[in-house]
Amino acid sequence: MNVHRAQRSPRRTNRTRRGVAKERRWTELLAFALLTSLVARSFAAETPAASPTPASAIRMAPPAAGLPELPAVVRSETTEQQDARLRWFREARFGLFIHWGVYAVPAGFWQGKPVGAEWIMFQGQIPVADYRAFARDFTAAKYDPEAWAQLAADAGVKYVVITAKHHDGFALWDTHWSDWNAVKASGAKRDLLRPLADAVRAKGLRFGVYYSQSQDWVNPGGGKGRGTAWDDAQKGDFDEYLARISLPQARELVERFDPDILWWDTEYQMTPERARPFFDLVTSHPRLIHNSRLGGGVLGDFRTSEQRIPASAMLGRALEVNMTINRSWGYRSDDLDYKSAQQLIRNLSDIASKDGNYLLNVGPTAEGIIPEPQAERLRAIGRWLKMNGEAIYATRGGPFSVPLAWGRTTQKARADGGVTLYVHVWEWPKDGKILLPGIRQNARAGRMLAGGAAVTSSVASDGLVVTLPGSTPDPDVCVVALDFEKPIELGEAAALPSDTGASGTLADPSKAPPTH
Ligand code: GLC
Repeated sequence: MNVHRAQRSPRRTNRTRRGVAKERRWTELLAFALLTSLVARSFAAETPAASPTPASAIRMAPPAAGLPELPAVVRSETTEQQDARLRWFREARFGLFIHWGVYAVPAGFWQGKPVGAEWIMFQGQIPVADYRAFARDFTAAKYDPEAWAQLAADAGVKYVVITAKHHDGFALWDTHWSDWNAVKASGAKRDLLRPLADAVRAKGLRFGVYYSQSQDWVNPGGGKGRGTAWDDAQKGDFDEYLARISLPQARELVERFDPDILWWDTEYQMTPERARPFFDLVTSHPRLIHNSRLGGGVLGDFRTSEQRIPASAMLGRALEVNMTINRSWGYRSDDLDYKSAQQLIRNLSDIASKDGNYLLNVGPTAEGIIPEPQAERLRAIGRWLKMNGEAIYATRGGPFSVPLAWGRTTQKARADGGVTLYVHVWEWPKDGKILLPGIRQNARAGRMLAGGAAVTSSVASDGLVVTLPGSTPDPDVCVVALDFEKPIELGEAAALPSDTGASGTLADPSKAPPTH
């Protein structure tokens, strides 16, 4: 185009000036629309509308109100594809979390004072040199990965997630990207991750890694979470830390250990741009699933609810409740505040009734011992699952929207088009009867999972009344399986009164105060 075209008349110029301005506005608008659609397209391929759970024989409880779905970054896949990818995870229902690292050496104490467990370096503002010195005593001298894997199998978990690198930056494997690792910097002098990955997989369990992508209190430039550097040795550029340490290590973990789960934690400073390469890493490994803690608007495949059991099921994404057996994630020698095995079994029942997974944590010592009070509670859950596993594994949450006074329910679609409803009785009703409010169809058959005794039920005006034998065979949670010919339809009565505790008082763990 040559700029020397004939000059225009002045009057015309105002009009043309207005015309030109208008034109410019349009081009700007067009450019903007184009730009946003480009951005949207670059992500859009990754953001199909989150559609509800696939239609099946299962009738799910209505979702908890008030949880806005954030516009966010997700994979480009159909719901069917996502369901297929997450199927093992949804069916697993129970996992073992392992917080293990150098913080197990001070075991909660710094300069003789109780400070914290896996956050001790931050909470004690411990200088890097002093914290690095602890690694000498991180010997893993009694570490027996086969025994850990056996404990996991005995507990009845289907997957194990271990802290490959926590916020203190210490890597449990012989990473190429930082010398602050178990091989080069600790008394263990060996890769601690490989043997566990192999042992866990040899038990037929899935293997996942926890990776602190943003926070790193030792490698220079690593994030300091809500705080700032307390030692010059920590100073450096965050983006350089992401590019030189965090992303290469995450890639190294994925390529070397082929984990089933990547468990990110704390998304401080993770903008969409910074999160993008991590997101690409995950999406370039179709089998790999990750949680909702990467940051930068990345939704993740499952939400995490830490130390709290939601009041009811959450629609859409899979849910995982991660919880400590005592009060600490990492090993802390003075933390003996253990939940009872009954509480843990009821938590598992409660979370499954809300269509969620339970990721229960242990904190081994610096030598690699899982404290016996934690191990015995895991074995107790395993014994319960041996008898009642079918009421947990591969089930969906119960059809009722609020907790029932006497316990919880889960359900499973059967190949014949019917549904089996699992009735988890926590507190045995004095009159031996429990009401399943709003159920109007009769059960074809009923049985106790423990012992197999037959159980009868009959339809009443307000629902199905189940008659239980004299006394409970299992004071923790006793499960009755009711087979229905077709999916369960609930009447209005299903809009249950809240947890009255009428027949048999019961402590609803979801109302338990958070333990941290
Ligand atoms: C919290 C703790 C962190 C722990 C994580 C596990 O964020 O601060 O240390 O690793 O929970 O869920």
